[in-house]
Order: sequence, then structure tokens, then C-alpha cells
Amino acid sequence: MKFHITTFGCQMNVHDSQWLTRALESRGWVQADESEAQVFILNTCSVRDKPEQKVYSELGRIAAHVKRDETVFAAVGGCVAQQVGTGFFDRFPFVKLVFGSDGIAGAPNALEQVAAGKGNRLALLDFVPVYEEREQPEEETVTIPETRQAFVNIMQGCDNFCSYCIVPYTRGRQKSRHPDAILDECRLLVESGVREISLLGQNVNSFGLDKGGVGVSFAELLTRVAAIDGLDRLRFTTSHPKDIAPEVITAFGELENLCPSLHLPMQAGSDRVLKAMRRKYDIARYLSIVDGLKAARPDIALTSDIIVGFPGETEDDFQKTLDMVEKVGFESSFSFKYSDRPGVAAVNMEPKVSSEVASERLMRLQTLQNNITRKCLKNLVGVETHAFIEGLSRKQGTNLTSWKGRDLAGRIVNVEMHEQSGLVGMMVPVRIVEAKKHSLNGERIGELW
Ligand code: 5AD
Ligand code: SF4
Repeated sequence: MKFHITTFGCQMNVHDSQWLTRALESRGWVQADESEAQVFILNTCSVRDKPEQKVYSELGRIAAHVKRDETVFAAVGGCVAQQVGTGFFDRFPFVKLVFGSDGIAGAPNALEQVAAGKGNRLALLDFVPVYEEREQPEEETVTIPETRQAFVNIMQGCDNFCSYCIVPYTRGRQKSRHPDAILDECRLLVESGVREISLLGQNVNSFGLDKGGVGVSFAELLTRVAAIDGLDRLRFTTSHPKDIAPEVITAFGELENLCPSLHLPMQAGSDRVLKAMRRKYDIARYLSIVDGLKAARPDIALTSDIIVGFPGETEDDFQKTLDMVEKVGFESSFSFKYSDRPGVAAVNMEPKVSSEVASERLMRLQTLQNNITRKCLKNLVGVETHAFIEGLSRKQGTNLTSWKGRDLAGRIVNVEMHEQSGLVGMMVPVRIVEAKKHSLNGERIGELW
């Protein structure tokens, strides 16, 4: 079968899609362009209303392919699938499979069944009480990406119920994976050539603090993964400020391969709004974490998620968000207009902030952020670091080949080099020579490794 996967949303979805691709390939299926695909798989996101709308327009587009060949069918997975469930079958007759967050482990077999004409339509929408291990490739058949970077899931779901967030409803309760399974996967990846691992979970700082826990904290897990011989870079995402342990903060100063960057969603800069958001920390606590991180690792790059226009947010509250963005000096941030999501507590909170006011706040926030980002990048000119090469740069110069890599904090660094091929997955020692709006230019100062 020829299949085409489209992924929306977070890194967890990206990783789920990569896993599904491998699982289908091991069954003899092949990836194909849309024009040739017999099966369309959408891995969906419903965290905000925009990504959800995109899912519907994408299904509209797939309908055109069904006209080309009426045996073409679609499968919808991820958060929107969990939410809408079998409702997709009524609205889009060519959708033959829906699978939620916990249903993905069974999706490859279900897809095979549907493709074979067995079971006209299938729905995998049940939540499981503990983390379900997914099939892993045999040791001899592990294929790693050319970039030598990999994601590893450490948990599923979220128990926080922030008042705006649909994730606990679409991804279910928090379920930690067994640390041995995580370590086995990480070791196998590194032995197969992976140099950078990103540990993934909705709220990694509360790893182990659920039914799946076996007494290993996130800090311990980090230490164990970091100790794997040959692992050059270790990252993790996402962190909830309320759960970050002092040991995780100090780990930034102690674990050599733990990269100096942390995505630590602040969401708002006003205690009143944070309380209504049910974030369970205040600004004083957030700042003390930031101080701790900067003390442990002075070059740490902090990034954030911020919501503007949360119900009840006043101009004064919003000003506090701007103040905090400036004070912390986030290198970059993702900022969003609050949108009502079905079933979350904030739906019933008043007064709603008008779309115009929220848009205007978003613009002011983004202007401030762009200025801070520019300053942060400018400060890096002259710094010596390594760029881990991911591929060719989008813009090519005239003489040399421009390669795109990432520094330790994950910033894009473009480097011009004589080599025209073969550099993906290599480290290049560089000196930063120029700061662009969202990236850096570096010059090579040493041997590749
Ligand atoms: N409206 C706007 N932004 C939201 N996010 C989550 N739920 C909502 C919502 N209802 C944002 C948060 C979160 C990021 C992944 O998406 O900032 O950290
Ligand atoms: Fe959503 Fe809050 Fe859980 Fe993050 S921690 S997934 S924002 S409920």
C-alpha cells in the first residue's frame, strides 16, 4: 500500500507519525506523494482552534483524491480524532479509521485490516490505564534519520487540567513509561548512530509521579540517559514550571551533554491570570526557577509559550506579561490568542476578551519578542560553538555550499563550507559571525567530528 502522512501539532505528534511510518514500512507499505497515495493518514492537533480548522480543510482536499480513485481512504489520528471520534465517519465517508492518542499502538494493524477490506470501519478511541509499549524495530533493522537526531517518548497524557487546555481530555491521564524501556530505546538509538536525543512528554517534570511510576524521578532518568556513551546532545520537552525539581535545575550545570536550552511555558505574567489558568505557580516562583537555571548554566536559552486575551485579562494584566517577557529575556516564544476549546473550564470564564483586543495585544507582544530575540542573537556574535548539521541551508551563496546546523541551544546556524555533500549528522566547530532575524551565521574554525 502507498500511504501519505500529514502531521499537525506538537513534537509528540511528529514523533508519533515517525513511529507509524516505520511500523507501516516494516509491513511493506511505502510512503508516497499525495498524487499516488492509496491511504491518507492525518495526525491531528486540537490544542487551539486554528490547527483543528486545518484538519477539516485537509479532509476537504483529500476528498478530491477519492474522486481520482474511489478505493482511496483516510485515517484520522491524534487529538481531533479523540475528540470527534466516530463523528468523522458521518461527515467524511472515505474516513475508515479513527484512532486516538492511546490507539496509535494498534493503528498499523488496524490500517492493514481496513486496507484488506476486513472491518469496514474501525475506531480505536479507548484510553489505556498504563503506558502501552509500542512495537520497536529489531536491533538489526533499526534505521535512524540521516540527521542522527531522535525523539524518545517518556510519557503520555497530562493530569494538570490547566483551565484553557484540551490536552488532558484528548490525551488522557498521565502515564509514565517504564524507565528501563526508555533507556533501552535510547541505548539502541545511540548504538545505531544517533547523537542527539529529545525526551518527550506533555509534562516531563512529573515523570514517574503516576501509576506507571517505579520510583525513578525525571532528574534520575535524565542522569541515566545522559550517561549513555556516545550521546552528544540531550534535550527534553515540555516542562511545567510547577513540577520542576531542584535536581533538574542543577542538572543543567552538571550533565555535560544536557543542552543549555529550556522551553518553560509561562503562559501569563500576572498572578491573577495564572491563578485563573490553574497553573499552580506565581510569578515569584517562576522567576526563582529562572534564577536557578541561570545560576546553574549562565548560557541557558529560555523559551516560552504565552497566551494573550485569556478571559478576564485586563490591560494591566497584559502589561505584566510584557514586563515578564522583558525581565526573563526569553530568546523566543510562541504566543497565541486564547481560544475556547470544547469542555475546558475557561469556556465558562468571563468576561471574554474581544478578538480585536487580543490581536492587538498579540502584536505588541510579538514586536517586543522580536526585539529581544534580535538582541539575544546579536550577543552571540563572536561566540565559539558547534553546529550540528541537519542539511543544506535554504539560501545558497555563490561560491561555497551553505549548510544549516544547530548550536547547543538549538538555534539555527548557517555555515558556508567547501563540502557539497556528506555533512549531515556532523558537528562543525564554528564562530558566530553574524546575527540574522531568526538565525545565526557562523564560520568554520576546526575539524568536523
Ligand atoms: N488557547 C490558546 N492557546 C492555547 N494553548 C493551549 N490551549 C490553548 C487555548 N485554549 C497554548 C499554550 C500551550 C501551547 C501548546 O498552546 O500556550 O503551552
Ligand atoms: Fe495542557 Fe497544562 Fe497539561 Fe500543558 S500542562 S498539556 S497546558 S493541561
